[in-house]
Parts: sequence; structure tokens; C-alpha cells
Amino acid sequence: MKVINVVGARPNFMKIAPIIEELENYPSIEPILVHTGQHYSPEMSDLFFRDLGLPEPDIYLGVGSSSHAEQTAKIILEFEKVIVDIKPNLVVVVGDVNSTLAAALVGAKLQIPIAHIEAGLRSFDRSMPEEINRVLTDAVSDYLFLTEPSAQKNLLNEGIAENKMFLVGNVMVDTLLKHQNKAKESEILENLKLLPKEYALLTLHRPSNVDTVDALNTIFTILENIQKDIIVVYPIHPRAEKNIIEFGLEQKIKKLQNLKLVKPLGYLDFLKLMMYAKFVLTDSGGIQEETTVLGIPCLTLRNNTERPITVAQGSNTVVGTDIELIDREVKKILKGNGKKGKIPYLWDGKAAERIVDILNKKYVYV
Ligand code: UD1
Repeated sequence: MKVINVVGARPNFMKIAPIIEELENYPSIEPILVHTGQHYSPEMSDLFFRDLGLPEPDIYLGVGSSSHAEQTAKIILEFEKVIVDIKPNLVVVVGDVNSTLAAALVGAKLQIPIAHIEAGLRSFDRSMPEEINRVLTDAVSDYLFLTEPSAQKNLLNEGIAENKMFLVGNVMVDTLLKHQNKAKESEILENLKLLPKEYALLTLHRPSNVDTVDALNTIFTILENIQKDIIVVYPIHPRAEKNIIEFGLEQKIKKLQNLKLVKPLGYLDFLKLMMYAKFVLTDSGGIQEETTVLGIPCLTLRNNTERPITVAQGSNTVVGTDIELIDREVKKILKGNGKKGKIPYLWDGKAAERIVDILNKKYVYV
């Protein structure tokens, strides 16, 4: 049984790693790793392959950055050739990036079953490219693996058959739990001259926060306030860096004395920074889940989340870019009253085991 596993962008790598590892336990399965090349810079891709012990991709499509249409189209064209050539029994896609949708679409049209890991999450905000990717990927997938119960409700509302859905937990948590001890050995705190719990960690890359001067100026005001009370470490995403330079905001940001701008970090260094942060500020999806597992307060700089369990049960608070609300929440955390939360059901490090067991039974015994 040939299983093609597709990755493209940074948040895909930690999701596919435990799946590949688990597939390798089954002698009847041949896992094949395809990297679309949506992310290609060493710090956005190679570093993660190294830190996560991922095998070299069997096939690299090299599509690179471009507009949504062009990037998605390039992946579709190149991935179709791969499917025609390899004739896989199954295509596994993860998350919600352009590579996820493009690969799922190609597979579905060629009548190859599609397994979507992290299915059913919805922000109900169609201005997010990821939301479009989620809805469309789920519509053409045959096996929908869910991280939280809200996903099942969303999919049922979209008319998707219940027997395609499997609540299995969170593969990103599998990776986090597996690497936590190794991350403790990282020297990133010493290298950045940071002390445990004496800094906040920031990530920012959503178009709604970094693609316009107005949005970046609002972020600047938020950071100006926070860094008066605590050091803020910001591993800067290439999208944000490009825009900050283009809008001429580089000097303004660099003037913030307690803001430490660093280049994008590998998985282990970043995990260590999360583990020892006083709190995390982010607009990422995955980091809301990772901080929930770590019990670190997370303030999400967005108006919504597709991962509501991180708010209902975890350590996440959705704050948008409301300057006063953020100020209040930060003060609360600094006084030691930040949200700790609890770890959601099935986020136990065994999601990949469950997923591959389900897939194996479907193919081998049915
Ligand atoms: C993509 C995903 C997003 C995910 C994010 C994680 C989509 C629609 N977006 O957004 O869901 O949260 O990855 O990082 O799939 N660039 C580099 N090196 C790279 C990749 C990109 O320098 O390896 C620069 C390029 O200038 C590019 C810009 O970053 O134009 C944005 O990259 P892109 O892949 O278009 O979107 P992301 O913002 O990374």
C-alpha cells in the first residue's frame, strides 16, 4: 500500500512527522513524502526536517512563493504528475495551507482516497485564506481526522457524512510531547540572554496583522506598551519582515528597547522558548494548541479562533488587536493570574497511532 504524505509549509512538518514514523511500523505500507516547496528557506523548512528527524522528501516540487492562484496552480500541475506516476492508494494531507488544498484536489479528481488530518476546524472568517483551504479540503476528503469535538459539529453542518469523521486527538501534540525533553537541551535562552519566565514570546504572520501599514502600526502600539513591562522576543516570519521593510517601519520597530527581534527559529529552540515564556502572543493557529498543552498563557491577536477548545479548556484568550483589552490581560498575567487551563481529551501523544490504525484497518481488513 503506497501512502503519499504531503507537506509544504512550516506548520505541516510537525504534523506529518508522527504519521510517517507510525506508518513505518507497518510492513505492508510504503510511506512516500512529497514536499511542495511552498516554504523553501532553510529556516522555514530544512531546520524542521533536522530537528524533527524527518526523512528527506522523496519528491520535491519546488513551487516557491507567488500569488495564491499561481502557487496553488503550480502545486496542482506538479502533484498531478506525481500521482499519475506513483498511483498511490492514499494521499494524506495535514492542516490548512495552500499545499493541503492543492494536493487534496488533485488526489480527489484522480479518485485517490484523501485523508485530511486536522479536519473540521472553522474560524467562520472567509477573509482568511486558510478558511477557504479548510472548507474545500474537507469537502473532497474521505477520512476526516479531528482534533476537537467542535470540528464534528462544523462538518455535520456542512452536510458531511458522520462515518467519515474520527476524533483522534492532535498530531502536533504527539510531536510536542516527544520532543519536550530534547528541547530542554537547547541553549536558546542563554544565546538570547533570557531568564525563564522573564520574557514574553511573540509570533506574527497573518496577512490581517502584517500586510498593511495600519495593521502594523496597531501592532507596534501594542508592543510598545508590553515591552515597557517585560522583554518581548519576536522570531520574525519572512512575510512580516518583508512588509516591515517595505513600509519603512524597520527603524521604528528596532527602537523598542525591550523587543528582541530574532530570525525564525527551528522547532526545538522555539519549543524551549515557549516552555519557559511568561506568556505567548500569537496569531498562529498551532501555537494556541501548543501553549494549551504546555499550560502557558496565550493571547491570540486575532478576532476569532478555529480552535475554540483552546479557549474553553486551554490557556488561550482571543484578544484581537484591542489595545486596552491586551493591556488588561497582560497585567493579569504579570500578576500571576494568567490562564493555565487543562489539556483537552485525546491530546495525549497517541493521535498518529490512532490515525494509522484506522487507515490500516480500512485498507487491510475491509
Ligand atoms: C503560509 C500559510 C499559512 C501558515 C504560514 C506559516 C497559506 C495560504 N498560508 O503563510 O497558513 O500559517 O505559512 O508560516 O498556505 N517566504 C520566505 N521563505 C519561505 C517562504 C516564504 O522568505 O520559505 C516569504 C516570501 O516572501 C513569501 C512570504 O514569505 O512571499 C509569504 O509566504 P507564503 O507561503 O505565501 O505565506 P505565509 O505567510 O508563509
